[in-house]
Amino acid sequence: MPTICLIPGDGVGQEVIPAAVEVLQTLQLDLTFVEAEAGFACFEKHGSALPEETLALARQSDAVLFGATSSPSTVVAGYRSPILALRREFDLYANLRPVFSLPGLFSRPGIDMLIVRENTEGLYSGRERREGDTAIAERVITRAGSERIVRVACEQAMKRSEALGRPAVLTVVHKANVLKLTDGLFRDCALKVAAEFPEIKVNELLVDSAAMKLVKSPQSIDVLVTTNLFGDILSDEASALVGGLGIAPSANLGMGTPVFEPVHGSAPDIAGQGIANPVGALLSSAMMLETLGEPDAAGRLRRAVMETLASGVCTPDLGGAASTEQFTRAVCTRLG
Ligand code: NAI
Ligand code: MG
Repeated sequence: MPTICLIPGDGVGQEVIPAAVEVLQTLQLDLTFVEAEAGFACFEKHGSALPEETLALARQSDAVLFGATSSPSTVVAGYRSPILALRREFDLYANLRPVFSLPGLFSRPGIDMLIVRENTEGLYSGRERREGDTAIAERVITRAGSERIVRVACEQAMKRSEALGRPAVLTVVHKANVLKLTDGLFRDCALKVAAEFPEIKVNELLVDSAAMKLVKSPQSIDVLVTTNLFGDILSDEASALVGGLGIAPSANLGMGTPVFEPVHGSAPDIAGQGIANPVGALLSSAMMLETLGEPDAAGRLRRAVMETLASGVCTPDLGGAASTEQFTRAVCTRLG
């Protein structure tokens, strides 16, 4: 009986995680839910954005379903983004962000890619400092970190190739022409690991050119692997091709408890209005079920979301008029 640790967090996280739980319960699997606190409201209440009890519950669980948390853009003493802390704590080095076409006018057709983002190093290593009027961020790239993320990308490419019956193509994205040492090392590691998978066709793109290609011909991309910051930016960009941040799911995989979360943040501009799109959280839940060894349930969930969107029911961010609750109800009805 798998235990799921729910961390709704701040803002719309408090709306989309309950929606996901409602749908997961409709699937009638043997799941146990425990809930834990994290985020800015939690920090204001308890003085910690990721309390020890939350970490302990997450550690004991089989998976974490995470909503979103708010992180101020200024330094707040003692505050650190809980999702970054969780990824570090559990060494969740692989961030999988699938981007695929959805039924609706809001989505471009023919897109089916997987962005594999390194999740623990790069520019998000937390090595920032001020020296008077100069601020410095260190971008840490390691051989071990690069090799393991590219290996995940290659394994995913092989898996997709088998499932979809098409050749595997891996696009390695970097900026080694300028960042010769850091991205030079990432590139060398990527080409070396990819060479262990002779079935995979390997392409390289400089990150700026990748940003352009994502808009111009996203259909040509299969699996894209890149470093932390580039992956963060490119995956938000890619989500816009198929409906935006409200629909984008992700998985954080590595050594500790896997964490599944919609790509979006706490969306303070719409929080509390009952109109947050739960699709990102629902598709993240489907990824969670797959990882927990429930591929059939994952498929049912995904199909129910697709059919609901195809019927024209969607939230305002996709051009519809459904509330979070109405959309969730429609998905549950299809599953029922
Ligand atoms: P955001 O993702 O919260 O919002 C960006 C835009 O997308 C907004 O217009 C918002 O209304 C829309 N949006 C996001 N989720 C939506 C949903 N489910 N349904 C419909 N529309 C949705 O990003 P933003 O505004 O840059 O950041 C807001 C806060 O979220 C910040 O404090 C930031 O630190 C935090 N954040 C947290 C993340 C996490 O917990 N993993 C990830 C990204 C941002
Ligand atoms: Mg982001």
